[in-house]
Amino acid sequence: MYYKNKQLNFWKEKNLEEDSSGKVSILFRETIPEIPSTTYGTFSIYKYPAKFIPQVIAFVLKNYAKTGMKIFDPFAGYGTVGIASRIYGYDYELWDLNPIIDVIHKTATLKPFPIDLNRIIITMKNSSKEFIPNWSNLYYWYPEEFLPTLFNAWGFVHSLPENIKYFVLLPLIKVTKYFSYDDEKVHKLYKSKYSKRKIENLLKEDWKNQFYSMLEKEISLLYKKIVEYNNLKPKDVNYKIKAGIDTLEEELESEINILITSPPYLQAQEYIRSTKMELFWLGYDENYVRELSKKEIPYRKVKKIDIFSDKYYRYREKIEEEHLRNLYDQYFYAILDTFTKLGKNVTDYMCIFVGPAKIRTLSIPIDEIIIEHLVNFGWKHEITFVDTIVSRVMFKSNINPASGLKDDRISTEHLIILSKK
Ligand SMILES: C[S@@+](CC[C@H](N)C(=O)[O-])C[C@H]1O[C@@H](n2cnc3c(N)ncnc32)[C@H](O)[C@@H]1O
Repeated sequence: MYYKNKQLNFWKEKNLEEDSSGKVSILFRETIPEIPSTTYGTFSIYKYPAKFIPQVIAFVLKNYAKTGMKIFDPFAGYGTVGIASRIYGYDYELWDLNPIIDVIHKTATLKPFPIDLNRIIITMKNSSKEFIPNWSNLYYWYPEEFLPTLFNAWGFVHSLPENIKYFVLLPLIKVTKYFSYDDEKVHKLYKSKYSKRKIENLLKEDWKNQFYSMLEKEISLLYKKIVEYNNLKPKDVNYKIKAGIDTLEEELESEINILITSPPYLQAQEYIRSTKMELFWLGYDENYVRELSKKEIPYRKVKKIDIFSDKYYRYREKIEEEHLRNLYDQYFYAILDTFTKLGKNVTDYMCIFVGPAKIRTLSIPIDEIIIEHLVNFGWKHEITFVDTIVSRVMFKSNINPASGLKDDRISTEHLIILSKK
């Protein structure tokens, strides 16, 4: 088949060795010359946990996609699949439980448009509009002194026309976080000694001026990133975004050609919890955010399915604690059911990117379990690319805070390529 030959040539040319289980090691970040860094352009305008590096998606598109194909990510997170698909001219569809995808996507795909930054800041300073988030813990996360300034800034930004608003929203989120008691070095909302000291120091200084000048700087930075992304000549393709939906309950309305995704982690990540401050300021209310949290994989209760993988049962046996075994089951029911169900409407490839996660000290070969299960549903395993993680926002520390041991939770990630038989 056309794409397979193209693919075979790729690793032969590069002298990459395939082992007996069909694994080839690769450094994705070095495969795409036109995207020179992992943080290039609008691929890094917001720190979303466990974000794809753009080169993984570009690699799949360049080696497996053909003109006219439609690309789909059912756990799209930041939306990297969409932002990359535009560069190569493919239509796409993105789903995620976290509604923040909408804001990131609208911002990341902006066209450079002359904005008068000075005027925006001056009008913001003089604006009397107010927005107060529906969040009962607001006063725990901010000193009272900052709140009127924040309410005004957000009231003003929420009232801006769409074509200007998205140049300001993510920068304002960043500054709003900096002016809170949250320790931005930690992924979940967390009040630390460092962050308390940061606020105490700000309060002693001319914090209002700092607030606006930091915002101005962040807007300029975003603008530069938008220009950088547009240098890659993104195309005007068709796309659909479903934000705030539960992928387990959702059906594909039409066929798509390639599914590319990285499903939620086995060691739960709590994506909603780590973005809740942002969601409140963006206008989502507390009840809605709480309801979203309950739908997150692997916390969400899911229906039991038959799993066709010996490895799944072998590893399950080794997990002694009942709650961990339960988490393991819920996780596999959720992701395997999703891939089996959605896969019926995928015509060519499923490309699934997973980390070899651990339960306590036991490494779980998630990739191999997914393959074993899906070959029973009309899928053929083509190859698995094994990428080494060089740096990750989530796993920056070398010491695992839970165990105090050297952190070896994830050191490689696996991209499984399955083709429709
Ligand atoms: C590993 S992340 C995906 C990151 C993405 N590849 C990127 O580049 O940002 C997994 C995503 O699954 C989402 N998720 C978790 N449970 C979900 C559910 N029930 N329905 C839809 N999305 C869900 C999370 O919000 C998270 O964004």
